Amino acid sequence: MIILAIESSCDETSVAILKNERNVLSHALVSQIDIFKSFGGVVPEMASRNHVPVITLLIEKAIKDANIEIKDIDVVAVTEGPGLIGSLLVGINAATAFAYAHNIPIIGVNHLAGHIYSANIVAPFKFPLIALLVSGGHTELIYMRDHMKFEIIGETLDDAVGEAYDKVAKMLGLGYPGGPLIDQKAILGKDTYKLPRPKLESQGLNFSFSGLKSSVANIVGKEKDNIHINNMCASFQAAVLDVIDFKLSKAFSLYDAKQLIVVGGVAANKGLRQMLQEKYHQKDIVIPPLNICTDNAVMIAAAGYYQWKYHNLINTYILGGQANLSL
Ligand code: KG4
Ligand code: ZN
Repeated sequence: MIILAIESSCDETSVAILKNERNVLSHALVSQIDIFKSFGGVVPEMASRNHVPVITLLIEKAIKDANIEIKDIDVVAVTEGPGLIGSLLVGINAATAFAYAHNIPIIGVNHLAGHIYSANIVAPFKFPLIALLVSGGHTELIYMRDHMKFEIIGETLDDAVGEAYDKVAKMLGLGYPGGPLIDQKAILGKDTYKLPRPKLESQGLNFSFSGLKSSVANIVGKEKDNIHINNMCASFQAAVLDVIDFKLSKAFSLYDAKQLIVVGGVAANKGLRQMLQEKYHQKDIVIPPLNICTDNAVMIAAAGYYQWKYHNLINTYILGGQANLSL
């Protein structure tokens, strides 16, 4: 089965073609990161407009690179949410027009399911599994007993991890997106600032990062130019990783799991990868390569495949965007 997938939920426009579970035939992507560096973050209205001139070209490129013909495509998959509504609608309209014009069925895919299925591109899922989804908009622990069955066992009560990284980077004047910049500097620094580890013992597997972010803001406010940037990055990253480690080990003590998958933009974090290799090496861990950790259409195709196979969920050509769609 051949799936053409489109992802445009935020500031990446991406089209991918996947054959069955994990044979990636092509992956075309245009990122707006360079445009938004000067704004210090994504401007939603601009992001949606910038998808328009590239999306058709990316569809054409993905088909050409995959060396297939349009008639070979069995299904079109598109991110229907969550995300920025204007950006989602550009992808949905392009996907619908393409599918309708060529009489191909279309399915709407949940962006979060997409992130989770990026790991299934690397290795087949082994159920039951625990998924840690850490991105700019989400921080979730998910228990899966089977394909496309998601049980949320923990989530953030306030900021997502990636969001905390981006906000702290902004306070430190590092630029956007903050995650990779803090990650690079953390390696050069030491954990010298005493930052809290919000473990929320009474909150089970839920996370909270806003207190940690405020602690950084207080220190930055007091010390101003005297802040040792590399050490602050190392201290912030160490605090985040301690919290993630604490919640993950708690999850493993409460749930029987054969596999740990770690997905989403923050899964690109070198410190996180190192901590997982050190502390969870006895588990079967799957972390996707960097290019499919951040937003991409390969993961949408991967989730779309299982949605089609297990649930035969076919939408009509009147798909709508759902900005707050949950798993
Ligand atoms: O998954 P993603 O591309 O978009 C969302 O669906 O949110 O994640 C983007 C987030 C941003 O907050 C970015 O700062 C963070 O992932 N990120 C990182 C790293 N690379 C990207 N955070 C920490 N360390 C990294 N190396
Ligand atoms: Zn994402």
